[in-house]
Amino acid sequence: MSTEEHRIPEEAGKDEPFVFPAWHNKVPPVFFGIIGPIVTALIIGGVWYYFSPRYTDVGYRPVQPVAYSHKLHAGDLGLDCRYCHTGVEGSTAARVPPTQTCMNCHKQVRTDSVNLLPVRESFAKDEPIKWLRIHKSPDYVYFDHSAHINGGVGCESCHGRIDQMVVVAQAQPLNMGWCLDCHRSPENFLRPKDKVTAMGYTEAMKEEDQLALGNKLKDEYGVNPPLHCSGCHR
Ligand code: HEC
Ligand code: HEC
Ligand code: HEC
Ligand code: HEC
Ligand code: HEC
Repeated sequence: MSTEEHRIPEEAGKDEPFVFPAWHNKVPPVFFGIIGPIVTALIIGGVWYYFSPRYTDVGYRPVQPVAYSHKLHAGDLGLDCRYCHTGVEGSTAARVPPTQTCMNCHKQVRTDSVNLLPVRESFAKDEPIKWLRIHKSPDYVYFDHSAHINGGVGCESCHGRIDQMVVVAQAQPLNMGWCLDCHRSPENFLRPKDKVTAMGYTEAMKEEDQLALGNKLKDEYGVNPPLHCSGCHR
């Protein structure tokens, strides 16, 4: 009987340990040095991407210095957006109205209202009301309201049902993917130019044959949104 046969199994392990193939030695460095960091970076990057402002911005709804309600003025009273946002058809910025625009009515309407006190003060002192900006593209992005309004894109497609908002909240993410979704297939969103400020029209668009109308308007208005980088990054 050779000594081999007398060995108890545990000892066999000690004398002739299972030899890991040489490449196993490279596993820890390869994992911790290269793959690990990449995986970690991807996870952090992914989490960062989905929770960064571009997504959480939707719903951004700061408290304004005056309790001005779009639901009342644009909804119930039916004022057209362009009465106040005078820039939409002719310039890049839509513009927020000067106090004078409010005073066109509020010199007569609700002249004792405490809610309108800051408006009267602003008018008397000739100091603009400090409205807080809600929608804002980064400086490296070029955006032009007039190009969209004149191309038959409704305010509603980008800002939602403003006529139902007592306080304005951001309705869309305004990120690059969102811009490009429409630029690739604008026919899904185009409406007649005389409906650009109409609210609730998106519902009607769903019922009609939007694709046929959109394609017709696309030709009629000569709509050709840029997809190349320098279209939006000038
Ligand atoms: C009587 C004037 C008036 C009318 C009419 C009006 N707005 Fe406004 N709008 C304002 C004022 C004042 C503000 C700034 C305060 C606020 O955000 O509520 C504003 C803010 C906004 C903002 C947010 C601006 C930002 O800072 O990002 C959007 C979007 C907007 N209006 C869209 C519309 C649309 C669409 C219509 C038509 C359905 C409309 N408005 C009608 C006065 C008006
Ligand atoms: C076309 C006329 C008109 C314009 C322009 C207008 N308003 Fe008004 N506003 C009204 C009317 C009408 C009411 C409601 C009065 C009522 O409920 O009896 C009102 C109500 C208000 C109220 C509520 C008052 C209260 O006592 O609670 C505020 C605040 C207000 N407006 C702010 C503004 C601001 C800010 C602007 C300018 C961006 C503006 N309005 C422009 C007609 C107008
Ligand atoms: C194609 C999408 C789109 C459409 C259509 C659109 N907007 Fe805007 N709006 C934006 C974006 C994006 C911003 C932020 C722009 C920036 O930071 O330069 C903005 C900003 C604004 C602002 C605040 C800053 C400014 O430009 O003065 C107001 C007010 C506004 N929009 C009103 C309107 C109104 C009213 C209409 C319809 C007549 C309209 N928008 C149509 C995308 C749109
Ligand atoms: C709902 C549809 C829609 C969305 C969303 C949209 N666009 Fe557009 N955009 C258009 C259409 C349609 C045109 C073409 C107008 C034309 O050719 O007459 C256009 C044209 C443009 C132009 C060319 C303007 C010029 O003067 O040549 C720029 C720049 C632009 N868009 C930037 C943006 C940016 C930036 C965003 C996102 C923040 C955006 N757009 C979101 C529909 C959209
Ligand atoms: C239709 C308009 C549009 C076009 C075309 C466009 N971009 Fe953008 N881009 C945007 C907007 C809007 C943002 C801002 C995104 C945000 O705020 O989340 C942006 C952001 C970026 C950023 C910043 C990084 C980020 O994701 O926040 C880079 C880089 C970029 N764009 C590169 C490009 C390149 C490269 C092209 C061409 C292949 C291109 N863009 C075409 C609208 C556009």
